[in-house]
Amino acid sequence: MSNKMWGGRFGDGPDEIMEEINASIGFDQRFAAQDIQGSKAHCTMLADKGIISKGDADQIITGLDTIARDIDAGQFTFSRSLEDIHMNVENRLSEIAGPAAGRLHTARSRNDQVATDFKLYVRDTIDHLDAQLAALQDAFVTQAETHADTVMPGFTHLQTAQPVTFGHHCLAYVEMLARDRGRFADARKRLNQSPLGAAALAGTSFPIDREQTAAALGFDGPTRNSLDSVSDRDFALETLAAAAITATHLSRFAEEIVVWMSAGFKFIDLPDSLTTGSSIMPQKRNPDAAELVRAKSGRVIAAFTSLSIVMKGLPLAYSKDMQEDKEALFDALDALSLCLAAMTAMAGSLTANKEAMAKAAGGGFSTATDLADWLVRVADLPFRQAHHVTGTLVSKAEEKGVDLHELSLEEMQAVDPAITNDIYSVLSVESSVASRTSLGGTAPSNVRAEANRWRKILAPKRATEGETK
Ligand code: ARG
Repeated sequence: MSNKMWGGRFGDGPDEIMEEINASIGFDQRFAAQDIQGSKAHCTMLADKGIISKGDADQIITGLDTIARDIDAGQFTFSRSLEDIHMNVENRLSEIAGPAAGRLHTARSRNDQVATDFKLYVRDTIDHLDAQLAALQDAFVTQAETHADTVMPGFTHLQTAQPVTFGHHCLAYVEMLARDRGRFADARKRLNQSPLGAAALAGTSFPIDREQTAAALGFDGPTRNSLDSVSDRDFALETLAAAAITATHLSRFAEEIVVWMSAGFKFIDLPDSLTTGSSIMPQKRNPDAAELVRAKSGRVIAAFTSLSIVMKGLPLAYSKDMQEDKEALFDALDALSLCLAAMTAMAGSLTANKEAMAKAAGGGFSTATDLADWLVRVADLPFRQAHHVTGTLVSKAEEKGVDLHELSLEEMQAVDPAITNDIYSVLSVESSVASRTSLGGTAPSNVRAEANRWRKILAPKRATEGETK
């Protein structure tokens, strides 16, 4: 049997393999709700413009509501022979609403329909991810409040560099996540134009009102070019690019969790509920969730690459290639959402081992820069010379197997006579971090102020989320 929806010119139905490669219902049923939302807006507009009768529109809307309920309740039978969500819904509508159903597709094509559905789906998903990102920021801010004074080694090249505070480290992620949210917000703003009414590619001769459907669907307005409307998938690419960067950020903290939990560091601990054991080594507690967050960034980044390759070189306007836009995006954004949830749980519940952090913070001559800065500030040495003097002192200490503060004043003065007893006041880890009060620096006073600033930024956002839900 030929296809009910487009089989007019076809003698035969599709080959089994044609049906299999052509069908998208296996994955696009995910945006059934958005498809129905779009159809209702289109139908209402058609009736308002006198393109279809109010009576037909009422029947269509009632039928679409029934279908939405059935799908929600898991009582809808999706059929692969009906190819995609659009035709599955329309076919069922014809069973419920009879001939009126056939009027819904007036002045519309699956090309503008799928672009609309997909935009609505991506927009909803961005809103969900944004709330998750805010929750993760919140968890980091809480850690920052608790650990404004907790010292740890700051690293460059994973070599001990200078002491920092753990709170400051946590707030670094709050900043990264804020930029991630900004990228998603930008993508959302740019995608928020309605393609509905572009029809197949050229627009339509029916007197439709695209402003009306755009407003009904919460878009800022209609898109301006029908060809672009049905061939644009930038919004998906841009969202995936934002997702890839976010996943990259999460993978960095995931790596830090793995490193910090290792026996060589022991900086943090995770609750049992967020670790796993080994089937053979009874002593082990593994940070599997962190490792998986680290790994899943791969599939998120891959999705961006995958869709870029699908879109690359496609002529205008719609090509069936574009049906391949969905699975990678669904997979990537699902993975990201799961990673955000896991990361929020870990960031919120990890405990810092202050003793281990403090001990490591003092190692590796981490206050050498403070010593050099003292020589500049108090003894008026040019920084390059101060750097050289400090380097000599470090190698002296290294030779003796002691820390910088364990060198005697005489030993120090032998390298530079300008050094006085006051030098010892800057060699402790605590004085080092306390002195870093420059804007954006790691001083506990800065961390407290920044945590407080973020708390205020995040708090009202969360309150409004609560209201709309
Ligand atoms: N399932 C299709 C997709 O996801 C819908 C659009 C089909 N349009 C067409 N002209 N065959 O892209």
